[in-house]
Amino acid sequence: MPEPAAPESYLGLEGQRVIVAGGSGTIGRALVEGFEAAGATVAVVDLDPQDGSVRVAADLGDADACRRAMGEATDQLGGVDVFVHAVGINDRRPIEAYTSADWERFIAINLSSAFFTAQAVLPLMRAQEHGRIVFFSSVAGRSGHKEHGPYAATKGAINQLMRVMAHEHAADGVTVNAVAPGYMDTALTQAYLDAHPERREALIQLIPARRFGQLQEVVGPVLFLASRQASFVTGQVLYIDGGRTVV
Ligand SMILES: NC(=O)c1ccc[n+]([C@@H]2O[C@H](COP(=O)([O-])OP(=O)(O)OC[C@H]3O[C@@H](n4cnc5c(N)ncnc54)[C@H](O)[C@@H]3O)[C@@H](O)[C@H]2O)c1
Repeated sequence: MPEPAAPESYLGLEGQRVIVAGGSGTIGRALVEGFEAAGATVAVVDLDPQDGSVRVAADLGDADACRRAMGEATDQLGGVDVFVHAVGINDRRPIEAYTSADWERFIAINLSSAFFTAQAVLPLMRAQEHGRIVFFSSVAGRSGHKEHGPYAATKGAINQLMRVMAHEHAADGVTVNAVAPGYMDTALTQAYLDAHPERREALIQLIPARRFGQLQEVVGPVLFLASRQASFVTGQVLYIDGGRTVV
């Protein structure tokens, strides 16, 4: 008698081929670890990747580089089931302090890289009638917080890109969602608080949970959206913000 098949886990991510663009970042590394712990095989696409079973070094600042990197990652993984875009830059200043070069850089790295990397996996996901795409938005993509105009603009645009992509591919078995973290205890937040330590308490007072989020509190929601449990969830922005956007 053959052994009965092992029951699939709750998430069912075992053996899934996952690409994390930005997988060397603070959040990205935690995601790679989370996917690997769930049994997935992970490819990291980043400037200088150090983790993952497959590592593709690429500067995703232009369309050709995005296509090349994603082609290499999917070739080496033998396909793709899940794609997470966790690339991002931020630099907080008043609108008047940004140059045109700054603006172009934000658009290229935060927004265009999301478009071209996701565009590259869509034909594969459509052909296999299965796929999960998760983008990184932010509470800044919804609220008009001061001093990160270009960043906020790219995150708002990601929400809309995500909705259209979700609509176009809903009938193909491909879901497309975004997660939108609030203030998390990460390098991006830490750098800001190091420059403005007096703002820590004021920021915490704006969060109903009265604390910053922990890295693992981002990993769980992303794994859920990437899993078979989220098969009927598409076109959504999932806020991970301790209630910041409800007040
Ligand atoms: N940290 C937070 O509190 C927070 C809050 C809301 C949203 N986010 C979003 O989450 C995502 C990850 O943030 P993080 O805190 O891990 O940031 P991070 O700076 O630690 O990581 C960003 C990653 O993007 C990569 N990257 C940057 N430019 C690149 C380029 N040109 N080509 C290839 N890779 C490039 C970096 O090498 C890095 O690994 C970002 O999209 C960010 O906007 C973060």
